[in-house]
Amino acid sequence: MSVITIEKITRRFSDGYLLLDEFSNVFKDKEFVTLLGPSGCGKTTMLRMIAGFEKPSTGEIRIDDMVVNSDKIFVPPEKRNIGMVFQSYAVWPHMTVFENIAYPLKIARAPKAKIREKVEWILEKVHLSQYVDRTPSQLSGGQQQRVALGRALVAEPRVLLLDEPLSNLDAKLRESMRFEIKEIQRELGITVVYVTHDQTEAMAMSDRIFVIYKGIVQQVGGPTEIYRRPVNQFVADFVGKVNFLSGEAREGRVELSGMGQSIPYQGPCTGKVIVALRPENINILSPKGGSGAPVLAESPGGIRPGEGRLEGRLASQFYLGDVNDCRVDINGEIVRVITDSFSYDDLKEGQKVSLSLREFIVYQDDGSGGAGIVT
Ligand SMILES: Nc1ncnc2c1ncn2[C@@H]1O[C@H](COP(=O)(O)OP(=O)(O)O)[C@@H](O)[C@H]1O
Ligand SMILES: [Mg+2]
Repeated sequence: MSVITIEKITRRFSDGYLLLDEFSNVFKDKEFVTLLGPSGCGKTTMLRMIAGFEKPSTGEIRIDDMVVNSDKIFVPPEKRNIGMVFQSYAVWPHMTVFENIAYPLKIARAPKAKIREKVEWILEKVHLSQYVDRTPSQLSGGQQQRVALGRALVAEPRVLLLDEPLSNLDAKLRESMRFEIKEIQRELGITVVYVTHDQTEAMAMSDRIFVIYKGIVQQVGGPTEIYRRPVNQFVADFVGKVNFLSGEAREGRVELSGMGQSIPYQGPCTGKVIVALRPENINILSPKGGSGAPVLAESPGGIRPGEGRLEGRLASQFYLGDVNDCRVDINGEIVRVITDSFSYDDLKEGQKVSLSLREFIVYQDDGSGGAGIVT
């Protein structure tokens, strides 16, 4: 069992700057939770408070039944039974892989035979068995980060905290390490709190994502929920690519400003609205027509089937191998469309195209940009 209970955690700095305001949630046993947000939004601070490197201004943190932080109680990091990995590899340069991983057990004065057994077990988990006698300088960045991961896991912590552990690795390695971390988490059945500013990383790994902006949790949900039903424009923009089109909702349709065209809409918003439309949720229909019946968006107000069509002209297209990245000019307004790369050969810049919208979300346009909603 390792449940982290966070109750009304607030972090205010001495200069009065309020970073986290009454953050409450329960991270479940064996859950992979990700704190996702831009730099400076408070992710590391949250993690450091769970680890015990930093004290909250007010609030309580419990790990299982143990209060580790409250007005009266502060349990130091070494007594919390937590493993932590940082962005910088932070492994001991003068120690071998074996010694690095054995270090927490040595400090805890575990018997030699026990240390060997545990280290060998973890070496296998992090795929470093053949490198035991190397020092970090003889390892790649990815291998060094696996040493840090092994060291964090060897004492079988209740909770693993990871602060942007893949940010210093190159793109290909970052992608494969995601799956390795996820696999280790499943095998060990450990609760993980993961911090990143990379939305695809969060999507690939998490059971639940907390999208944070300026110290405020904007939305909590699984990857599909966050991606397909972002509660506001900030979340829609942060977790993927999106076109924002302004318009006016009335009589079952949204009239798109400047485009002279409208799309069907039956949701709760009225008057000034913003339509969020992901480029990959738009199909370019061949001039002859075709394509199945498009399905319309689930807006925060519910699923509204119907047909969304727009007529425009292909302004440009970029062949990217896996996709065709297009810009479509609709009466002077530009909409980005990402479509099947095979369409590149069929389409010509300047030609007329019909767009069918598979899914979009309509937000009330209150001029705020939509951020700041607390869930
Ligand atoms: N002791 C402090 N006093 C004032 N501001 C701080 C202090 N520590 C951190 N901050 C500020 O809090 C913000 C959040 O920091 P951090 O938790 O590191 O964000 P993230 O990990 O999301 O990038 C940053 O803007 C940082 O400047
Ligand atoms: Mg940080």
